[in-house]
Amino acid sequence: MDTISIKTRDSYNVYLGKGILQGLPGLLNDTSYEAISGRNLIYIVTDRNVSRHYLKGIISGLKKNGYKIKYSVFSPGEALKNHQSLFKLLQTMVKRGLTRDSAVIGLGGGVIGDFSGFAASIYMRGCGFIQIPTTLLAQVDSSVGGKVGINLKAGKNLVGSFYNPVFVLSDISTLHTLEAREIICGLAEIIKSGLIFSKELFEDVLDFFRDYIGENKKTAPSVEIKKLLLSDMDFLQEIIHKSISIKGEIVRVDERESDLRMILNFGHTFGHAVEKLTRYRRFLHGEAVLLGMKIACELSLACGRVGENDLRKIRGLLNIFGIPSVKGLKAKTIFNQLGVDKKKKEGKIHYIVLDEIGRAVSETEIDESKVIACIEKVLAEQAGNNK
Ligand SMILES: NC(=O)c1ccc[n+]([C@@H]2O[C@H](COP(=O)([O-])OP(=O)(O)OC[C@H]3O[C@@H](n4cnc5c(N)ncnc54)[C@H](O)[C@@H]3O)[C@@H](O)[C@H]2O)c1
Repeated sequence: MDTISIKTRDSYNVYLGKGILQGLPGLLNDTSYEAISGRNLIYIVTDRNVSRHYLKGIISGLKKNGYKIKYSVFSPGEALKNHQSLFKLLQTMVKRGLTRDSAVIGLGGGVIGDFSGFAASIYMRGCGFIQIPTTLLAQVDSSVGGKVGINLKAGKNLVGSFYNPVFVLSDISTLHTLEAREIICGLAEIIKSGLIFSKELFEDVLDFFRDYIGENKKTAPSVEIKKLLLSDMDFLQEIIHKSISIKGEIVRVDERESDLRMILNFGHTFGHAVEKLTRYRRFLHGEAVLLGMKIACELSLACGRVGENDLRKIRGLLNIFGIPSVKGLKAKTIFNQLGVDKKKKEGKIHYIVLDEIGRAVSETEIDESKVIACIEKVLAEQAGNNK
């Protein structure tokens, strides 16, 4: 098992490995966090897809170790992150006797992590919180950095807080039951981490998929990519470890999302616009980020930053992942949507562009026509791929 230390205001460990879920009672026993070492009530928040595979085993392990357990199982999906569900959970937590000295475990993907973490952050002004991320995206991204929250009608993640867990337990064996498209979404975040911060990580992934990359190669089916990736769990653990370390380092330097943390939005600015314009129905988040990264890379070239050689490698890798059709999407509409995004600061859109593989910067002075041309280029290429 790897232990990665995230050094923030209140530092915490991410435990990463294969088949380590059964080690949860041991990790709880070892923590100095009072509520947990005192065998107080533990409240597990999860969703149906995850509970089906993992809840029973976790509860039985904890009970054997003397913990009192209560739990809530919700319907899966982004719709959970709303204020009605939040207040329903908080009221159930009161009814079931949770005190400030209890701890909440978020067992699931980013939705469960954001939702349960936010509940823990405001319940009686904050109780203990443990993340057990079970999607690749949650393991490399949402479980690290302390951002928790819910959505409003006006937009995603508009209500929330920064609330760090006591620890994160990432068992990569749970990825076997995850849908193939969700694996691609996590991979998109890993590739993003490589592009913005670590050439080595990017080259690792590029090298792993080298047989799929070439002039006339078609996109690979997501089930095939999942199978290949999960056939080498050591490699998977290594790239997840590197991604967590990168996110940890960015968060250590800039916990409250001022400048450095903004580079994590690489590909997201465009991706969010596409998700919103397709009403969150057509693209999974990571798929929209893949499209967004393609646009951000073309923009990097158009701004005279990233070189053709780097761009060829990036295009080669990004093109192996199939994404939903871009039918009906217009470059100008995507551009207009960028202005509505909350990532806009002081009236200016911050575009995250690549200087080279492994280094990203924020640019605010880019001509509208240049941005629209890059979006148009990628949409046209994508329309060709989707045929
Ligand atoms: N807090 C942050 O810093 C941060 C960062 C990125 C994304 N997010 C948030 O994360 C959310 C997306 O997270 P996600 O991509 O993990 O989606 P998700 O939580 O919706 O999970 C995706 C699907 O996989 C299922 N699932 C989860 N684990 C499984 C497993 N091991 N086996 C089988 N099925 C499983 C879920 O039930 C769900 O249907 C969004 O709400 C986004 O806003 C937060």
